[in-house]
Amino acid sequence: MENEQLPDRTRVGRIDRPLIVALSVALGANYLSGAGHAIAGWIAGPETPPPYALIRIHGISAVAVQVLLGALVVAHILPAWRARRHIASGLGLAAALAVLVLSGVGLYYSGDESLRALSRWSHIIIGLTLPLPLAIHIAQRRRWRDPGRRHDR
Ligand code: HEM
Ligand code: HEM
Repeated sequence: MENEQLPDRTRVGRIDRPLIVALSVALGANYLSGAGHAIAGWIAGPETPPPYALIRIHGISAVAVQVLLGALVVAHILPAWRARRHIASGLGLAAALAVLVLSGVGLYYSGDESLRALSRWSHIIIGLTLPLPLAIHIAQRRRWRDPGRRHDR
């Protein structure tokens, strides 16, 4: 039976509301503080560091995002992966998030200057463009309430 014809509770990869809300709050705070930090840095120039509160909010929300991504792997990604649904857009989004996590680690621990610069630029570019893979992935969500609509995989 097609996924969209199933009752809401049995849809493969369905994300429970508390997890969606928590992820939206954490990722929203993370994105706004990260983008704010990057833009404030560009406007003020290298002499004036961006407000410290921004990196504080960014670091704290990043920890929350990573915990919630762990929950998402179990509740959403693995079931959807096994059912082979939205693999391409899901993988694209997961890859972007993986680069953010790894380059975030690189920002902290890369001793080498050029590795730090690579971490920093990949972090900022993938970070700022994150809404794109996120929007593409969510746009593929099926309108399961509309039984007349045809759906592709
Ligand atoms: C999974 C998501 C993310 C994680 C785990 C993460 C993690 C981190 C970490 C650990 C740092 C270093 C903090 C410090 O220096 O104390 C950082 C810095 C930063 N992040 Fe993120 N981040 C994420 C998403 C984003 C997004 C979405 C953006 C942009 C919209 C962004 C932009 C930045 C910027 C501009 C910096 C400062 C870089 C610098 O000038 O050194 N991050 N992030
Ligand atoms: C390989 C990785 C992934 C796969 C295979 C996958 C698969 C899916 C599928 C099948 C749906 C549609 C569910 C439905 O019919 O209603 C969906 C929706 C969604 N996905 Fe993913 N996904 C992946 C990764 C991610 C990641 C990393 C996020 C992180 C934010 C995410 C967030 C969402 C959201 C917010 C929705 C819409 C809400 C919902 O349907 O409950 N997904 N995904």
